Amino acid sequence: MSGVVIKGTGAYLPALCVDNEAFTKILDTSDEWIRTRTGIRTRHFSDGEPGWSMGLKAARQALDSANLRPEEIDLILGTTVTPDYCTPSLACVLQGKLGAVNAIAFDISCACAGFVYALDLANRYLMTDDKIKNVLIVGSEMLSRVTNFEDRASCVLFGDGAGAAVVSAADALFTSSLKVEGMGAGQIFGRYHGTRNPFCNPSPAMDYDEYGDYKEGCLYMNGKEVYKFATRVMAETVTEAAAKAGITPAEIDLIIPHQANIRIIETAAQRLHLPMERFAVNIQKYGNTSSACIPICLDEVNRAGRLKKGDKVCFVGFGAGLVAGAALIEWQ
Ligand code: ACO
Repeated sequence: MSGVVIKGTGAYLPALCVDNEAFTKILDTSDEWIRTRTGIRTRHFSDGEPGWSMGLKAARQALDSANLRPEEIDLILGTTVTPDYCTPSLACVLQGKLGAVNAIAFDISCACAGFVYALDLANRYLMTDDKIKNVLIVGSEMLSRVTNFEDRASCVLFGDGAGAAVVSAADALFTSSLKVEGMGAGQIFGRYHGTRNPFCNPSPAMDYDEYGDYKEGCLYMNGKEVYKFATRVMAETVTEAAAKAGITPAEIDLIIPHQANIRIIETAAQRLHLPMERFAVNIQKYGNTSSACIPICLDEVNRAGRLKKGDKVCFVGFGAGLVAGAALIEWQ
């Protein structure tokens, strides 16, 4: 076996839905600005529900649609930048809540590219470890936990939600292209407090302190730099993943991209010389839910019956790190 099949998908969005108009009550912004500059109309926020609970609901749906019992899962990969706990991992909490007693479980931290990195890792496990037959990937994010709601340039972009997929080995296509540009780590970051060590005074200097408008405990984002990075690497990684499969981007049936800004997706489409119809887009409803974006969108297109056997599907994500990646599969 040298590829993967996506056996099931799931998604969960918390009920609280906030439209752009609501932001005009707390910020100097407008529905028109947000819609035209980002494509976003609404986003969902947790009303206090923890991230693991959102992830659990998406995971249960994915297991149902894969027709698998929790005991049949051998590996759970959690992806989140907004975990409920610094430890244990989201994946371990889900293993317990699901009763996936035979699964090993851990999280990976790859920001908005989490699903792509998890898929790449799942493929490697499935190819090299006989004991791993079914992998559950769960991305659950509560970005509202780290959003600076005084920063109009970033807070209108984010939302909360969870997406999941069950992945198994198959004689099918799998290629990927992963990329990290750590020199750009300061362009998007959220950080913990300094040490609690009572013997240290003053607190040690921290990295990235040059960002004056950084609010402790919140995400900092240099939107312009991320925008430039995203539009460049989306086209690069998709092209590279396609080349590894011996095809051109034009032969990809559907691209499921990270949903950060509709203009980023449009620019990537232009660079790849592809029509927008080739991209799955739901940013207008949910905004940017980081690593949950791609599996939520996958679940949506899957349930809508938009994918047929043999379709070449490419997932592409980018985010804090700076990280980027594309993974290409054939729909089974
Ligand atoms: N409402 C009204 N005006 C606004 C808003 C707002 N919500 N936000 C910014 N503006 C203003 C700015 O202050 C600026 O005003 P000025 O000209 O008077 O200074 C003007 O709009 C233009 O600002 P720009 O930053 O040039 O706006 P731009 O078109 O670049 O859009 C945005 C900003 C949406 C942040 C864009 O840069 C972007 O999408 N960047 C990428 C973000 C991203 O992809 N993040 C993903 C990673 S996040 C993660 O990993 C969790």
